[in-house]
Amino acid sequence: MPDNTAARSTASTFPSGPDAKAVPEPFTLVIFGASGDLAHRKLLPAVFGLWQDGLLPPQFSLLGYARSPTGDDEFRRGAADAVAKFTHGRTVDPKTLEAFASRLHYAVGGYDDLACFQAIRRRLEDEAAREHRPPNTLFYLATPPEAFGPVVRRLGESGLSRRGAAAAPWSRVVIEKPFGSDLASARTLNGKVRAAFKEHQVFRIDHYLGKETVQNILVLRFANSIFEPLWNYKYVDHVQITVAESGGVEQRGPYYDRAGAVRDIMQNHMMQLVCLVAMESPLSLAADSVRDEKVKVLRALRPIPAVCGPEGVIRAQYAAGEVRGKQVQGYLREPGVAPDSTAETYAAMRVFIDNWRWSGVPFYLRTGKRMAARVTEIAVRFKPIPQVLFGAPGRSPVEPNTLAMRIQPNEGITLRFQVKVPGPAMQIEPFQMDFGYAEVFERAAPEAYERLLLDAAHGDPTLFARGDEIEAAWTFIQPLLDGIKQCLVQRLPQYPAGSWGPKEADALMEVDGRRWMLVRRPTGTR
Ligand SMILES: NC(=O)c1ccc[n+]([C@@H]2O[C@H](COP(=O)([O-])OP(=O)(O)OC[C@H]3O[C@@H](n4cnc5c(N)ncnc54)[C@H](OP(=O)(O)O)[C@@H]3O)[C@@H](O)[C@H]2O)c1
Repeated sequence: MPDNTAARSTASTFPSGPDAKAVPEPFTLVIFGASGDLAHRKLLPAVFGLWQDGLLPPQFSLLGYARSPTGDDEFRRGAADAVAKFTHGRTVDPKTLEAFASRLHYAVGGYDDLACFQAIRRRLEDEAAREHRPPNTLFYLATPPEAFGPVVRRLGESGLSRRGAAAAPWSRVVIEKPFGSDLASARTLNGKVRAAFKEHQVFRIDHYLGKETVQNILVLRFANSIFEPLWNYKYVDHVQITVAESGGVEQRGPYYDRAGAVRDIMQNHMMQLVCLVAMESPLSLAADSVRDEKVKVLRALRPIPAVCGPEGVIRAQYAAGEVRGKQVQGYLREPGVAPDSTAETYAAMRVFIDNWRWSGVPFYLRTGKRMAARVTEIAVRFKPIPQVLFGAPGRSPVEPNTLAMRIQPNEGITLRFQVKVPGPAMQIEPFQMDFGYAEVFERAAPEAYERLLLDAAHGDPTLFARGDEIEAAWTFIQPLLDGIKQCLVQRLPQYPAGSWGPKEADALMEVDGRRWMLVRRPTGTR
């Protein structure tokens, strides 16, 4: 185990971000869709985690809201079960859980019913008055996206959104993904959101941004001086971003069959990763400085032609195969999936960022379900050395350096470089220097939803997407969707479940003389 105590003793905190230990002002979290999967698997355990860590004020309360007829007691029991089942990596203290559950309430109502929203308002104001605190409220839209528009409208009409009101008491809204299903619907939803809330009240969530390793991309790039001089077209040959899942569509068949991988992963998570790798240094760590730079990257992406074929995006579907020793069925046999579906479970493409820094540097993006392993990794491949010394004729070419940022799992950073093998011959081999979060910090990274909920409670939107950022990402993706619509194929290319994707995606790299790679290859994979 490396001793990093000294190295870590000078750790500094973000000067302009919220202090990680600060407790927000008393507030109520209202979860719309509180009977659902996200609320139980992610939100309630995350809120409990914050509560147990003392990061929520004692007067914090949570109001679950949904149509399912449930009472306070049943909701509390369900929440306690969810916390016990889905809290990973920390011990749940029963007494703390009991105290937490006593702060939970439930209300039954529709998502487009003004009278119900007026009732919520009275309830929140009465509760706040009883407890002598302001009725600060964080609304969380954890419903399917069809309900986002009606809910924000009713929040506005009932006065719950407090649009344009003074800073206190505050009202904010967290909106789940997907934010729109194309450019037009994202614009329409933004219009509805802006009619009810001001931008500083809106928190469009992409939970990837709450991951420590994603935030560390900025630290790696801008808190170190050694990378910046190399981080451009002069030294970087190309960048690869892989977002691979070993799971299939599971219970999300009906949603996924409408969405596909381009909408589900590329438009949001992958665009965010591209932004963080490619953006210029922001003027400060203030939310708008960071988000301004991300928007510039999205606007500099070279438009992709709206065509069906590899000039646009390579798409494929998983066939039956073996994942980690288990036989799994193909996509077309998954529950909720149309037997003649042409929704892609895999997508790959080459994109260029037409600005000075990245001129001519390809960014290769690939994402898929039922791949050989679950792994998200960004690999920055540097240009090869002039092959005059070690790579001279008669010797095999020396592998270029690669810096890999592993987002999940085994979060960390790896640098690959060449070393001389001890002995009389000038034999060279690539070597990896690894930094692993778990080994160095000896504690699990906080759950992304914990960090994001706390930031929203503090009113810090740095790790959330701004309205123009979402639209810039959709503007880039829209021609891909238009191209996909033109595809009259009866069947998409297939790749066996448990593989690294279709041969068409390998060909995309081969024509450029490159190949897909994973620097920290997951164990047990080819
Ligand atoms: N689950 C995840 O891991 C995950 C991950 C990332 C993003 N998200 C996003 O989070 C949101 C909620 O996801 P979820 O998985 O929790 O969904 P879900 O379980 O299907 O829905 C949550 C709740 O929304 C209510 N609802 C409102 N309109 C509905 C409709 N037309 N059809 C079905 N239910 C409706 C239901 O409650 P009542 O019937 O009781 O009102 C349901 O319990 C979605 O926008 C999803 O894209 C989820």
